[in-house]
Amino acid sequence: MGSDVFNFPAQLLNVLRSASRVTVLTGAGISAESGVPTFRDAQTGLWAKYKPEDLATPEAFQRNPRLVWDWYAWRREQLGGVAPNAGHLALAEMEQRLPGFTLVTQNVDGLHQRAGNRRVVELHGNITRTKCFDERCLVESWEETGEVPPHCPSCGGNLRPDVVWFGEALPPEAFAQALSASRACELFLSIGTSSLVYPAAALPHEALEHRAVVVEINPNTTPLSLQASYCFRGPSGQILPALLKEAWSDSPSL
Ligand code: APR
Repeated sequence: MGSDVFNFPAQLLNVLRSASRVTVLTGAGISAESGVPTFRDAQTGLWAKYKPEDLATPEAFQRNPRLVWDWYAWRREQLGGVAPNAGHLALAEMEQRLPGFTLVTQNVDGLHQRAGNRRVVELHGNITRTKCFDERCLVESWEETGEVPPHCPSCGGNLRPDVVWFGEALPPEAFAQALSASRACELFLSIGTSSLVYPAAALPHEALEHRAVVVEINPNTTPLSLQASYCFRGPSGQILPALLKEAWSDSPSL
């Protein structure tokens, strides 16, 4: 699809080129074109009968730690076979072009880092890390006894993925960084998120209150759509490279 199809307004291109601070918030939609199902998509195969909202909670883990551990093991395995897509790569290029660029993600898949982004604020943790359920400390290695989930080498408690579950607090330092980057930016891009899950969904509103231009990139409307300065409807893997090309058409790609 040609970039002209998206018809990017000149004001937006100017802000993108000249802003001293640009903040981006991504959600599961940016990874959809890599083949990672979004959170609110129906699950497939063995997991089709479960809703993620019923597995991604501390209560679900306490009720059936094996089931929840196995679900994350399956998701981790799926991630091994996928690669960053054109949308991730465009954001890695933006980080290089824009000194005041902050990438905040709700995704736990690590695809932004694999695409080349160096500074990623992870609001919901990372599926590749493991921590102790009781002590909450990160754990890098443990004895494989065949038990599922494995046990913490220091206290013997159950190990769990280092992700933020429904009902849990966000890592305070990551949220503080995201909040200040949202309040300080001139341009805020909300990409591939349903804008339903707080407190992440509050970030574009913070940006709007501080007079930033707020852009939504999503094939579907969300609760943010009516308030966003601009909405581009389509897959981020097409829209982001087109936006970059349009903004910097006269300079070579990095
Ligand atoms: N490009 C851009 N956006 C897309 C694409 C695409 N190719 N495909 C789908 N989308 C959009 C959908 O329209 C939807 O609005 O991505 C969004 C995905 O929404 P969710 O599945 O709700 O994911 P997200 O917003 O990241 O969820 C937030 O909720 O379940 C928790 O912790 C979990 O981090 C997650 C959080």
